[in-house]
Amino acid sequence: MLVKIPQRSQLTESDITDESVYHDRRSLLKNMGFLGAGALMTAALSKNAQAGFFSDETPVFKTKPLDYKQDIANQDLIKTPEQKVISHNNFYEFGSQKEQPAKLAQAFNVEPWKLTISGECDNPITLDYDDLTKMFPLEERIYRLRCVEAWSMVVPWIGFSLADLIKKVSPNSRAKYVAFETLYDPKQMPGQANRRLGGGIKYPYVEGLRMDEAMNPLALMSVGLYGKTLPPQNGAPIRLVVPWKYGFKSIKSIVAIKLLEHEPQTTWKKLAPREYGFYANVNPNHDHPRWSQASERRITSGGLFARNRIETLPFNGYGEEVAHLYQGMNLSKHF
Ligand code: MTE
Repeated sequence: MLVKIPQRSQLTESDITDESVYHDRRSLLKNMGFLGAGALMTAALSKNAQAGFFSDETPVFKTKPLDYKQDIANQDLIKTPEQKVISHNNFYEFGSQKEQPAKLAQAFNVEPWKLTISGECDNPITLDYDDLTKMFPLEERIYRLRCVEAWSMVVPWIGFSLADLIKKVSPNSRAKYVAFETLYDPKQMPGQANRRLGGGIKYPYVEGLRMDEAMNPLALMSVGLYGKTLPPQNGAPIRLVVPWKYGFKSIKSIVAIKLLEHEPQTTWKKLAPREYGFYANVNPNHDHPRWSQASERRITSGGLFARNRIETLPFNGYGEEVAHLYQGMNLSKHF
């Protein structure tokens, strides 16, 4: 994600291409003093995390195979190779550079895990690690993931509908919004312990949806990808996937879900409200203040920066399923 710098000259559309997105983000963060934190972070890291960061050894985190129903309808989508899905990540708790989470998250401990679902409901529950994969039948969902930074992937997620989870707690009539929260554990998440490494975010990372968005059948609680449990860099043990919204809504490593009467705060909106809104629906007609959202670089096979530019579709191509949620709303105002 790019962080707004006051007084910085505006980028033109031609600046935002492939590598330049990456390098520009690096220089923005550097200007803000959020890079070059190698020496500082050692104090914050556990021994294991240090080992993961400073060596190129095979990852130590073990994923497990899952039983699930295949997504027959979407098998023809060209998937982003697994190696890219698990090595090009945004997970600032483990560093703000794309390759850092895969290195820094390998010692992440997901057991025991507790996920509480509470707030405006009659039946609050707490799930533990085993419940996450056993509570509901698992299904594959092959979805496009469009990052606000104008790159995209196609990922075969595995999980269950967020709607099924919400129904379990029996929401009451005041439940209008759903708030999500990522684990806060600076001992395990070096980006939370070190402001530079963590991109200046105030943790825990928080996100939210309107209740009707959360109940849409496309909204997925994902516990796996490519047939196995999630690796930590992709949000183990459980994350949200909202395919019609920019990727930053798809919050990772969730420990709390709360049903609320009012719109919750969200991490990127708090940090840069002119650039990142609460709704964050993929919208080729509403540009980011500093770059166009009309097209995207699809990460497929080929090098990480292989040119593979495609048009961005409204709601990331899921308009038929979700456009009705926003009838009568000005999507440039509610971006
Ligand atoms: N969740 C948390 N907790 N922290 C993050 O930094 N980054 C978001 C989202 N979820 C992020 C997060 C962004 S910007 C994107 S694009 C997606 O995760 C990336 O998911 P991926 O790394 O699995 O592709």
